[in-house]
Amino acid sequence: MNKTKIKAFVFDAYGTLFDVHSVVSECANLFPGQGEAFSRLWRTKQLEYTWLRSLMGKYVSFQQVTEEALKFTCRSFNIPCDPEIRHRLMNAYLHLDTYPDVTPALKALSGIPLAILSNGSPGMLDAVVANADLASTFRHVISVDEVKIFKPDPRVYDLAPRKLGVDKSEIGFVSSNCWDAVGAKAFGFSTFWINRAGAAMDEMGIAPNAVLGKLTELKDLVTG
Ligand code: LAC
Repeated sequence: MNKTKIKAFVFDAYGTLFDVHSVVSECANLFPGQGEAFSRLWRTKQLEYTWLRSLMGKYVSFQQVTEEALKFTCRSFNIPCDPEIRHRLMNAYLHLDTYPDVTPALKALSGIPLAILSNGSPGMLDAVVANADLASTFRHVISVDEVKIFKPDPRVYDLAPRKLGVDKSEIGFVSSNCWDAVGAKAFGFSTFWINRAGAAMDEMGIAPNAVLGKLTELKDLVTG
């Protein structure tokens, strides 16, 4: 990887900066013994619904997708999804924990423009970023809502070079979601898959430029 090539870093939000499974404790409070399985199915369905809606040309906000996936998950677990439960879990999504490597990694990169590019709807992103005290860290917090389609549609990735004024070949795109890193690479970014959990790589004939165990390894990719 040519170190001088990266002029800006663009981060995925959910699963990369923010731990979507930090809602497990709220799930476990509500559904003892089932918190983890509940949270995993909720996330899986949430992503599936983004892909299905993109294919169908039926975009709705990520807020709505997340709530619909929550209703499905409750139904699967035979748990009533009353408004109070929905409110508590949707609210937990606005207060997600960051992974421990996030703050040191972003500090180490503070000399270059940083942005978020996420499926999240603007209100959800603004809240989770502000609650994590990261609002001043990012030059742009970009939502797919501007183009009304979800990742990995190329129109989504194209928002970043336009906002940052940096050519796509000089943007480092960072995601813990392998499919997102692959989609971004297909678009033309240099991509870094953060594989904290040692997961298997997707097999699509397109591979990220590098696989890193932690976000703190990113600083070695830029000239210092
Ligand atoms: C996002 C999803 C992929 O933040 O987690 O865009």
